[in-house]
Amino acid sequence: MRILIVGSGGREHALAWKAAQSPDVTHVFVAPGNAGTAQEPKVRNLPIDALNTTALIEFASTQQVDLTIIGPEAPLAAGIVDAFQSKGLPCFGPTQKAAQLESSKAFSKAFMLRHGIPTSAYQAFTQLTDAIDYLKTQDFPIVIKADGLAAGKGVVIAHTLDEATIACEMILNQNRFGNAGNRIVIEAFLTGEEASFMVIADGLDFIALETSQDHKARDDGDKGPNTGGMGAYSPAPVVTGKVKQHIIEDIIKPTLAGLKQEGIWYQGFLYAGVMIDNTGKARVLEYNCRLGDPETQPLMMRLKTDLVSLCQASLQHRLPEMSCEWDKRIALGVVMAAGGYPDDYQKGDPITGLTPGASISLNPDCKIFHGGTAYKGDEIITAGGRVLAVCALGKDIKEAQAIAYQTVKTIHWDQCYYRHDIGYRAIERISV
Ligand code: GLY
Repeated sequence: MRILIVGSGGREHALAWKAAQSPDVTHVFVAPGNAGTAQEPKVRNLPIDALNTTALIEFASTQQVDLTIIGPEAPLAAGIVDAFQSKGLPCFGPTQKAAQLESSKAFSKAFMLRHGIPTSAYQAFTQLTDAIDYLKTQDFPIVIKADGLAAGKGVVIAHTLDEATIACEMILNQNRFGNAGNRIVIEAFLTGEEASFMVIADGLDFIALETSQDHKARDDGDKGPNTGGMGAYSPAPVVTGKVKQHIIEDIIKPTLAGLKQEGIWYQGFLYAGVMIDNTGKARVLEYNCRLGDPETQPLMMRLKTDLVSLCQASLQHRLPEMSCEWDKRIALGVVMAAGGYPDDYQKGDPITGLTPGASISLNPDCKIFHGGTAYKGDEIITAGGRVLAVCALGKDIKEAQAIAYQTVKTIHWDQCYYRHDIGYRAIERISV
């Protein structure tokens, strides 16, 4: 089989690595990929942008691609799956309509309200004066979100009316996030612990993936600005068996049933970002119409089932025939970022300390997934904010953490930045 993976981040490296392990797979193409995917056995990068649907369709149809898997949200929101489907090409991911769960916060909040899915109270606004009038009636902190896709940056937690007003002005009137900010959602701030709950869905049925948790704040102790994720681990101890059942019954099942009722067939990975309070009640913070990054990297290290068979089963509505097997060990990944990320950062710095295999660590329980990397001649250089995710398997979270950090300390570039405490919440939970 010939597989095409669309995207260039750590998530796509992990998907390509996993897909290449399938015994039926002879070739994995990644468009456009990174320096890590370029090094993987059976894997080849294509110089095609993830948003160039025409070129991707041309490649898939002329090069006998059997299955295309879409990694990031932007091509999904732009309708890449609809375009592939219209040419009869198998493509794994939700359609543009289904992807609205992520591409419009106002759509997803209204959807949750219609279907009784637990989430925080909210209102959507297009006019600044209306937003400010509403803010004057609310408690703080409060959350302000740009309606559309903003690469994980469109969320502000405002602690006062002044801060909230500035955030609304910046998004609605100063176009900080472009058209993504033509509308905003203002929602109540939830407290508790966040977890990532992902499933593979085929419209009717679904299989829950193992649980995971990421660290969104840039700095140690979950301080500093929000990022796409500075590290992740699987499983997430906050998601006990009881909490998992509650998320499945009260969030995942009504979400898929609600979509179906509205004539939307959801096929692909569905990610519910949930806040779990101290009574174990989960509320949806956001939906994503794809897998999480960096959660996918530890998840793929634990997945024993053939990824390609799972995606095919979903496309052919055979998910009930399948089950997912997982490595019982804990997987943990530390993101190594460019200094300055998530704001401005430098690119083009040579990375030292990578072994000749680039993504192969000297420890067999460790794997280095590349995100923002590229080749410059024979040298691997930084090419994005989140550069690497160094992942490790351990018999417990402490062991996984120790192995990952051992490798992290051997890799360097100018202004390389990482958190030193990935997994601390899970370690605290198992220590009490
Ligand atoms: N790690 C969070 C996300 O992928 O959106």
